[in-house]
Amino acid sequence: THCILIGAPVDEGQRRLGCLMGPAAYRVAGLARTLAELGHSVEDRGDLIPAPGRGETCDNPAVHHLPEVVAWTEALAAAATTAMGAGLPIFLGGDHSLALGTLSGVTAHAETLDRPQFVLWLDAHSDFHTPLTTVSGNLHGTPMAYAAGRSGFDALPPFPAPIPAERICMFGIRSVDPAEHAALLRYDIAMNDMRVLDERGIVAPLREFLDRVRAANGLLHVSLDVDFLDPSIAPAVGTTVPGGATFREAHLVCELLHESGLMTSLDLVELNPFLDDRGRTAKLIVDLVGSLMGRKVFDRPTRSF
Ligand code: ARG
Ligand code: MN
Ligand code: MN
Ligand code: MN
Repeated sequence: THCILIGAPVDEGQRRLGCLMGPAAYRVAGLARTLAELGHSVEDRGDLIPAPGRGETCDNPAVHHLPEVVAWTEALAAAATTAMGAGLPIFLGGDHSLALGTLSGVTAHAETLDRPQFVLWLDAHSDFHTPLTTVSGNLHGTPMAYAAGRSGFDALPPFPAPIPAERICMFGIRSVDPAEHAALLRYDIAMNDMRVLDERGIVAPLREFLDRVRAANGLLHVSLDVDFLDPSIAPAVGTTVPGGATFREAHLVCELLHESGLMTSLDLVELNPFLDDRGRTAKLIVDLVGSLMGRKVFDRPTRSF
């Protein structure tokens, strides 16, 4: 696979500074080397630089840095669409507001291929607010709502073709605000919150979703928020929530994704290296990308599913 690294040092989607150091931390932790050792070609396109903000506003006074986030969204959407034509883009965040742009860019590309775009959202949070419902005002809590076609995003470019709920799978969810919850009830999204994963484990729900992607000949965007993981193994994130995915669960998710061969783009988001403990979170994410891209303990014929 030709892997295209795109740095997106976005910090404006939340209030705790540090995510802008994420792309550098992934590079220091050896992301390119890990991919190359697995036999992939790697092209590092460096860090994106957004245009200056244009002063957009919205009716919710809590919202902050809207113009900056709009500019990032435009830059990332363009970069994503271009990269999709050339290989597998891996977006190095940056906070999760970067997915406003990456989801928009990959979906625009899927439209040109006339193939359906699917999304796997690995996160403690549903990120299903609109700029009008967010209480924190942090726009990293909104990208999934933007992609699903919720209204309230007038300041942003219109989303290409909103992704139908049946093509979205949320995984690891354990923190949903009341306004998000009310909206989610109206969307038939595969909601694999921790209640579901505790009962069923991760394998069956993930396979169900991957089967749907394959049956539809879909493209699959994977958005990995560091807080999907349990804070005990991944402390470098501003929005820790207890009870997250374990080391073993997370690697198994990544291995199953690799065996499926379906992933076409990837976000690595919310790493805040300023909060890390001797780089352990950055290194863990790089190891997970290794599993996503084919590292295995023992190379046996893959089970088909
Ligand atoms: N729901 C909360 C909010 O809107 C938390 C969002 C956390 N999002 C994230 N990408 N870490 O503020
Ligand atoms: Mn998130
Ligand atoms: Mn999160
Ligand atoms: Mn909120």
